[in-house]
Amino acid sequence: MGRDQQNRSERICHLHLKIIHVFYLLFVVIGLSLLFNTSIILCLKNFSPTFLSFLYSIPNSPKPSELLPAPTPPPPPLPISTFSRSDQELFKRAAMVPSIQGSSLNYHTYSTHVPKVAFMFLTRGPLPLRRLWEGFFKGNQGFYSIYVHSHPCYIETLPRDSVFYGTRIPSQPVFWGTATMIDAERRLLANALLDLSNQRFVLLSESCIPLFNFTTIYGHLMNSNLSFIALADDPRKAGRGRYNPKMSPAINITNWRKGSQWFEVHRGLAIHIVSDQKYYTIFQQYCVPPCYSDEHYIPTLVNILYPELNSNRSLTWADWSPPRDGPHPREFGWVDITDELLNRIRFGSDCIYNGNTSTTMCFLFARKFLTTALESLLRMPPLLLDFNPFHGVDKDA
Ligand SMILES: *[C@@H]1O[C@H](CO)[C@@H](O)[C@H](O)[C@H]1NC(C)=O
Ligand SMILES: *[C@@H]1O[C@H](CO)[C@@H](O)[C@H](O)[C@H]1NC(C)=O
Ligand SMILES: *[C@@H]1O[C@H](CO)[C@@H](O)[C@H](O)[C@H]1NC(C)=O
Ligand SMILES: *[C@@H]1O[C@H](CO)[C@@H](O)[C@H](O)[C@H]1NC(C)=O
Ligand SMILES: *[C@@H]1O[C@H](CO)[C@@H](O)[C@H](O)[C@H]1NC(C)=O
Repeated sequence: MGRDQQNRSERICHLHLKIIHVFYLLFVVIGLSLLFNTSIILCLKNFSPTFLSFLYSIPNSPKPSELLPAPTPPPPPLPISTFSRSDQELFKRAAMVPSIQGSSLNYHTYSTHVPKVAFMFLTRGPLPLRRLWEGFFKGNQGFYSIYVHSHPCYIETLPRDSVFYGTRIPSQPVFWGTATMIDAERRLLANALLDLSNQRFVLLSESCIPLFNFTTIYGHLMNSNLSFIALADDPRKAGRGRYNPKMSPAINITNWRKGSQWFEVHRGLAIHIVSDQKYYTIFQQYCVPPCYSDEHYIPTLVNILYPELNSNRSLTWADWSPPRDGPHPREFGWVDITDELLNRIRFGSDCIYNGNTSTTMCFLFARKFLTTALESLLRMPPLLLDFNPFHGVDKDA
């Protein structure tokens, strides 16, 4: 009953968004034609006045100038940006919020804040592994913040005592492989920056799991002097092959980087990312499929402007091992969850931490774990995950 009603509301919401997008596309296409093709104008003159007045009444629906971050005529046809005017204001506010270093506020303003880690979940809708995360956060109130960006049409039914209750931020639809993905990431960062006590910012998906207990992850993030953004100069078609020479001279081929979208950044770098207009605008115009902004924008930006702040590796593990060569890593269901697998992910690599320490603790999170993996993950001995997810966490749902 309730579920049916919920599905109907979600369908109506999706339809509503589709109509807005059709209007937007129509507006952009016609706008471009008017600008570049005088023959179209001549052609339109033959249309009835009602058709033209219909066209000009469109400004009641979202205008490109409201949807694009830097209104530069003519509007680029692709991709559709989902920034609203309130997003613009949000970014401005977030960019002005102080970073802990180099701020003019005196130390005592900060000393009252316990530094927190912002866990930012970029999801489609539900959080299938919610109970695992609830167990992870339990008992650590005051040391973390949670932000969830899900599809605006998704209707949430969460128990009031869940740590995820009330953590959704105002969102826009995200389309895989388009710039709407980095719009969502920037929206999450901007919201999290408004809380001055957030000092580390982790981007996660609904299929991510934590690999250690909260205390261990918190300490590892807080003690690191570098951010964790994977980046590499990949000479192949799926790397340098996606570079568009029109991005030059701001971005040249040797600046171009590719990396995983799942990052962890310090507060200072988060402010830099949210403040960027220059590179964002270039990506929005020239990084269109088969170029995927979420794999190139932040890595390239950081490589050009702040290479010394980055460790160049991600803290989020994924299985790309052969014979896999599609666009998605391997997924893990209930049959795959073993002590052996989790320990291999947790201790099976070598990397450098803080410049001079060699460590096997290279990953704090892992993806992509399916809904079916939840029960197996919850049943793992507490020793392995260092916390007991059954302790005081609701077992129904
Ligand atoms: C978290 O894990 C570490 C390392 O395994 C352990 O020493 C510590 O006691 C654990 N903390 C809690 C609160 O379980
Ligand atoms: C690309 O730009 C960098 C500066 O950002 C410069 O050092 C480098 O020489 C340029 N490379 C090419 C191939 O133009
Ligand atoms: C990361 O890569 C940048 C170049 O993008 C380099 O300048 C920097 O030293 C590297 N950092 C580490 C920790 O390897
Ligand atoms: C981070 O710390 C290590 C060791 O203390 C040091 O070698 C490295 O230069 C530091 N990096 C930065 C960016 O401060
Ligand atoms: C790494 O560098 C830091 C600061 O320079 C120093 O305190 C620490 O002892 C060094 N660690 C190792 C393992 O050399």
